[in-house]
Amino acid sequence: MLKVYRGELLHFLADPAKVALEDSYQYFDDGLLIVKDGLVEQVGEARQLLPTLDQSVEVTHYKDGLIMPGFIDTHVHYPQTEMIASYGEQLLEWLENYTFPFERQFSDFEHGKNVAEFFLTQLLEAGTTTALVFGTVHKESVEAFFTVAQQKKLRMICGKVLMDQNCPDYLSDTAQSGYDDSKALIEKWHNTDRLQYAITPRFAPTCSSEQLNKAGQLLRENPSVYLHTHLSENKAEIAWVKDLFPDSDGYLDVYDKSKLLGRRSVFAHGVHLHDSECQRLGETDSAIAFCPSSNLFLGSGLFNLQQALKFDVNVGYGTDIGAGTTFSMLSTLNEGYKTQQLRAEKLSPFQSFYLATLGGAIALDLEGTIGNFTHGAEADFIVLDYHATPLMDRRMQHCTNLSEKLFILSMLGDERHVKATHIMGERV
Ligand code: GUN
Ligand code: ZN
Repeated sequence: MLKVYRGELLHFLADPAKVALEDSYQYFDDGLLIVKDGLVEQVGEARQLLPTLDQSVEVTHYKDGLIMPGFIDTHVHYPQTEMIASYGEQLLEWLENYTFPFERQFSDFEHGKNVAEFFLTQLLEAGTTTALVFGTVHKESVEAFFTVAQQKKLRMICGKVLMDQNCPDYLSDTAQSGYDDSKALIEKWHNTDRLQYAITPRFAPTCSSEQLNKAGQLLRENPSVYLHTHLSENKAEIAWVKDLFPDSDGYLDVYDKSKLLGRRSVFAHGVHLHDSECQRLGETDSAIAFCPSSNLFLGSGLFNLQQALKFDVNVGYGTDIGAGTTFSMLSTLNEGYKTQQLRAEKLSPFQSFYLATLGGAIALDLEGTIGNFTHGAEADFIVLDYHATPLMDRRMQHCTNLSEKLFILSMLGDERHVKATHIMGERV
């Protein structure tokens, strides 16, 4: 079945930091997106494509809206939805005082489903159509998340947290039970519809070497699943890792020794990486989730995007709810821009929107499946509205080119500027 959407249209073909800007994206002032059975059939100029269509095909015209691929959130915790905006602490105290007690509730499947429903609704309203998501240590939390994501026909990646040390007893698994529960979840959910599994050691401090090694074993036994964890977010955390793993040559090396790096490995934050660590991430094709709103909220630091680019590390954006303070990728782009300003680096609007779409897809090894409008990609897309708020509407009247439009969207935009979200072509 054909579905056709008309409007201003933008998508990326390559990283603007790596190719000539004009080769990095396709933009149509008056474009057409043709969707067949939920997949992208074609994009192009409306005046060229409209005459090729059968007269009977209905065209949905989004006037004054920008059609683009759905945003991709490469690091977020659904169980932390209701503890967003918890005051005053940096990472380790924040985990202990707020996060762990909150996550306890997710042993209850029904509670998990209730929060997952709200969480996914918020994501879709913010224009995010795929996310790499932390559960809690409870397998029920992942069952609940996948159950709801499946009903909504979403492409989502989730995993049960592994943690067997330095955490409350009520949140602790063991190396063996973590392995067994993860294995059962992989067998049930990985590649079921559009769902995929991520092996999810919380971070080095809460995982014994035995647990990390078992995670590596599970990854080797299931090469198409993901590895999702945290890395070098906060200085006290990094010092703790050094104490806990004296034989490792730095934080990343703890994971490396357990064979956790690779094309489907995503490390959240990486705010304080040495060049040698960045190089290792690059040469193993691993990815970093850049989470500016979280890094600012927890006072973790300013991510060095240029360092990641220099070593060819795949980078996507993450909201990191509940340390992050917004579901909105547009607001996250705002925070990202400001972190780079504080480093005296420019983050161009093209680069920002690339990272939020195709960059995220590449970080998740899903290029060709989501992230742009290449032929055969899944038609998860959004429509941004320049006029949803009086301020943006006014500012846009003084705007002369696409770069400026994108910049204004990323500085002033939030959920209010997402007019529509489509999943596999269907408006939701
Ligand atoms: N490091 C380990 N666990 C967490 C978490 O839940 N949030 C963040 N931001 N960092 C972590
Ligand atoms: Zn996180």
